[in-house]
Amino acid sequence: TTATPEIRRGLAGVVADTTAISTVVQDTNSLTYRGYPVHELAAHRTFEEVAHLLWHGELPDATQLRDLQARERALRPLDRTTAELLAGLPRTCHPMDVLRTAVSLFGAEDPTEDDGSPAAHRAKSLTLLAKLPTVVAAEQRRRRGLAPIPPHPDLGYAENFFHMCFGTVPDADLVRCFEISLVLYAEHSFNASTFTARVVTSTRSDLYSAVTAAIGALKGPLHGGANEAVMHMLDEIGDPGRAAEWLDAALAAKRRIMGFGHRVYRHGDSRVPFMQAALDRLVARAADPEASRLATLHAALRQAVLTRKGIHPNLDYPAGLAYHLMGFDTPTFTPIFVMSRITGWTAHITEQLAHNALIRPLASYAGPGQRAVPATAG
Ligand code: SDX
Repeated sequence: TTATPEIRRGLAGVVADTTAISTVVQDTNSLTYRGYPVHELAAHRTFEEVAHLLWHGELPDATQLRDLQARERALRPLDRTTAELLAGLPRTCHPMDVLRTAVSLFGAEDPTEDDGSPAAHRAKSLTLLAKLPTVVAAEQRRRRGLAPIPPHPDLGYAENFFHMCFGTVPDADLVRCFEISLVLYAEHSFNASTFTARVVTSTRSDLYSAVTAAIGALKGPLHGGANEAVMHMLDEIGDPGRAAEWLDAALAAKRRIMGFGHRVYRHGDSRVPFMQAALDRLVARAADPEASRLATLHAALRQAVLTRKGIHPNLDYPAGLAYHLMGFDTPTFTPIFVMSRITGWTAHITEQLAHNALIRPLASYAGPGQRAVPATAG
């Protein structure tokens, strides 16, 4: 008899392919994008520069950056038909479902052939980079019963997003905190949504289909949806003094604590210290009792989880509260993750096609043995 094959549920620890886009350096617990440590990129570079780095393998020079910014700004407005179709979706529709639908519409309206060439991919990737914030901002306003604010061609990527959401351009410090979150969220090797995009691409399907599938994967609370779930959890606990008892009850009920744990990082997510520092800045700026209460609760819960389960927070834990303090509605948090991760997803889509192999694993059969079909029904 053949030996029972070793089954790796969740593909845990399985190396499925090579990538040149990013890697977690385990012994220094640091993440690098195309060789650059992500915390240095987050501290000194903009999200547009990191997008160029992920797509092209190098940071842009001044001319390349100006060109990318000009093309990105020109692509921000939505086609009127698309804007009307999205505005017609039920108000109860989750913003991640609106975003998934928008990408399907972008695919439907894009007349250019997806011949799988890097040039075609770059054009489509830039289109999505430019248009996703317009959808997310319009959705944040629609949920509040407000009309959308059109994209502003003279504003940078981050400033424009705030302006479309709130009608104001925030100060440089707040924009910096937002840019840090976008750089940290941009890319993370073969996470579930990126691998989903690679599976779809491996059949030689098109980029919009791969991104639509990736959005579906990211929505789940075990993945990107965790940053939204963190805020719901903090709201559910309320009083910082209740964190420990809430946690004991949650763990007794075998609940997963949102924003904690990670499949790859076993001693803490390398991105957390830099997002936590940005969160601390936001709390200090807010200087109001509500922000202080949330920060105290956030720290108390983090300590309690570490003490009770020895589990560290992942990026979603500080990011969720940070987005709340920036003024975004909770259902907008994971769509912001999409706005950033579209860069990593599309870099992987292009890389998958560069040396493609159809992704099709095996299964170990555990169903009934072969049997004859009864002559008559019933
Ligand atoms: C992201 O892959 C990526 O890189 C993803 C990401 C990216 O940038 O793309 O980093 C972004 O998705 C971060 C993760 C966001 N998800 C959450 O915060 C949801 C809560 N986290 C857990 O569901 C969990 O930690 C996962 C899903 C992140 C990882 O799960 P694993 O690797 O499958 O581990 P597991 O669920 O089997 O848990 C192993 C043990 C278990 O103990 P036992 O039941 O076997 O005794 O650790 C415990 C778990 O109970 N555990 C947790 C826990 N995470 C692990 N217990 C309580 N709460 C948690 N959050």
